[in-house]
Amino acid sequence: MSTEAAKIVANQIRTNPKTVIGLATGSTPLGLYNELIKLHKNEGIDFSDVISFNLDEYVDLPKDHPQSYKNFMDKKLFSKINIKQKNIHIPNGDSFEKKECDKYELLIKSYDGIDLQILGIGSTGHIAFNEPSSSLGSRTRLKTLTQKTVTDNARFFDNIIDVPKFAITMGVGTIMEAKKILLLASGDSKAEPIAKAIEGPITSMCTASAIQMHPNTIVIIDEAAAKFLKEKDYYKWVYSNSKLN
Ligand code: PGA
Repeated sequence: MSTEAAKIVANQIRTNPKTVIGLATGSTPLGLYNELIKLHKNEGIDFSDVISFNLDEYVDLPKDHPQSYKNFMDKKLFSKINIKQKNIHIPNGDSFEKKECDKYELLIKSYDGIDLQILGIGSTGHIAFNEPSSSLGSRTRLKTLTQKTVTDNARFFDNIIDVPKFAITMGVGTIMEAKKILLLASGDSKAEPIAKAIEGPITSMCTASAIQMHPNTIVIIDEAAAKFLKEKDYYKWVYSNSKLN
């Protein structure tokens, strides 16, 4: 999953060195980030003109907290590639007023939008922190996390009471404006949300299902995450016979 995703990201950056890339946090993209670091070191993939926008940031975490998404990204990717600090954008978890969230939207627009958006999927079917019932037209805003998401994210914290309950997140509408989307998922825990997202109805109860309306989305998943897909054999057949491979 990560190697395939890295090929797509690397091609995008080779084709357009000024790519505006949307980045995700969590466990899912870690393998991709490691592959990109390798490609940077071994094959000279150049991030010096790449612009990044992260999907979300926790609210109420001290800036220096190791689990802030700013620190996560610095540690797992940014410090190991040659992206410029001035080109990195992450929502500010300290300013969740509407006008601050609107500024993030305007900043994305000022770069003519996101060229390639990396997404994971939560067990609640969320993309970014767009939890069930989030408007499919939503924009960057303050969002209350579900108890399920808080529990899922507790593995990164010493104690579940330390897990933030709020985040600033790009909206589904923001994500849907990306020119290309790359959604990644692996493992049994993602099988149900993946089936809902890809083959279920388009519904705010699984915000990832909005990708069905997106004209240019690639989904890369492993066998475990694919296990409830009814048309799994068809997707494999399409892939192995693709004119684009
Ligand atoms: P994970 O999170 O990659 O840590 O499973 C995905 C998500 O919540 O979007």
